[in-house]
Amino acid sequence: MTARKIKDNIYAVSAIDWERKLFDELIPLPEGTSYNSYIVKGSEKTVLLDTVDPTKEKALINNLKEISIENIDYIISHHCEQDHSGSIPKILELYPNAKVVTNQKCADMLKDHLLVPDDNFIIVKDHETLSLGDKTLEFILTPWVHWPETMSTYLKEDKILFSCDFFGSHSSTSDLFAHAESVIYVDAKRYYAEIMMPFRNVIKNNLEKIKDLQIDMIAASHGPIYDKPSFIIDAYKDWVSDNVKNEVVIPYVSMHGSTLEMVHYFADELIKRGISTKLFYLPKTDIGSLAMALVDAATVVIGSPTVLAGAHPSAAYAAFLANALRPKTRFVSIIGSYGWGGKMVEQLAGMLLNLKVEIIPPVVAKGYPKKEDFVSLEKLADSIMERHKSFI
Ligand code: FEO
Repeated sequence: MTARKIKDNIYAVSAIDWERKLFDELIPLPEGTSYNSYIVKGSEKTVLLDTVDPTKEKALINNLKEISIENIDYIISHHCEQDHSGSIPKILELYPNAKVVTNQKCADMLKDHLLVPDDNFIIVKDHETLSLGDKTLEFILTPWVHWPETMSTYLKEDKILFSCDFFGSHSSTSDLFAHAESVIYVDAKRYYAEIMMPFRNVIKNNLEKIKDLQIDMIAASHGPIYDKPSFIIDAYKDWVSDNVKNEVVIPYVSMHGSTLEMVHYFADELIKRGISTKLFYLPKTDIGSLAMALVDAATVVIGSPTVLAGAHPSAAYAAFLANALRPKTRFVSIIGSYGWGGKMVEQLAGMLLNLKVEIIPPVVAKGYPKKEDFVSLEKLADSIMERHKSFI
């Protein structure tokens, strides 16, 4: 990827990772990703905002050469995770006069993770400013998006917010700006769902902190730049709000068809009642899509058979994931089947303790579902509809 001019004296020197399809060996990246790094040249000082994943170090260095960056005074490190900080040691080697500007927490983490020497840092506090001559940077602590040390930088004269992961999207588009909004909305929602959702309440505070800034552009560390920032700010406001949708998400798995029959019957009953219904067949599902559906669904119903006296491991994985992501789900239930006994329901319910939800009584069939089981599924659909009426 080549260096690209955003405005006079402001450049993207980012790297695109077209091939990366998994992050943290966990999170699917169907669209690849980018590691965004930016150069701002002031009349007196030049600053590099974040670096790139160490696997793309060469691309960053080439981009800096392309726009003839012979000196870097400051490297702003917004976040210690290696996809943004991993090339700091190399940049310090190539630009030995550069100082790493960050908050104390991030500096401590950079020392731990990347062995950056202590005397390389300039520590800044919330709302502290740094002059580049004719340009001014203001540092704004925006913690827990998604690590504790994360911060953003506001470039006052150009009204650009460099937000690092906050507002980012995993996308390997060559577009510099987010003009394909419907596509970027999905990428950004997926990104929010996968790593930001557990910190929804802190992110509400972060949105509050930036609300009075005049922002012409948001330049995040993944995905294209928002030159109409209200699009992504409004999306975040919606995702972090307490509002839920008239929607049921059903992650499920079946071995011999009993649970499958129950899930299909139950889904039809929900649809008949006007409830939006999303099914995720766990052995083949993309967990990123499941995470996205959890962002605003009012209800989750897990479907599982009983294996070795407990939940199917795929259903347990879905419950573990939902518990870790802490969605704003209000109601949970479980449907499924067993052959001769077991504690499938207790096990799954016990895995959801982080969620502040009402557990609606489950429906479990012995073997293949029978008439009374189908009636129970209809009643479960009624119970859900009754509860959803409180907000639709
Ligand atoms: Fe893109 Fe949390 O690193």
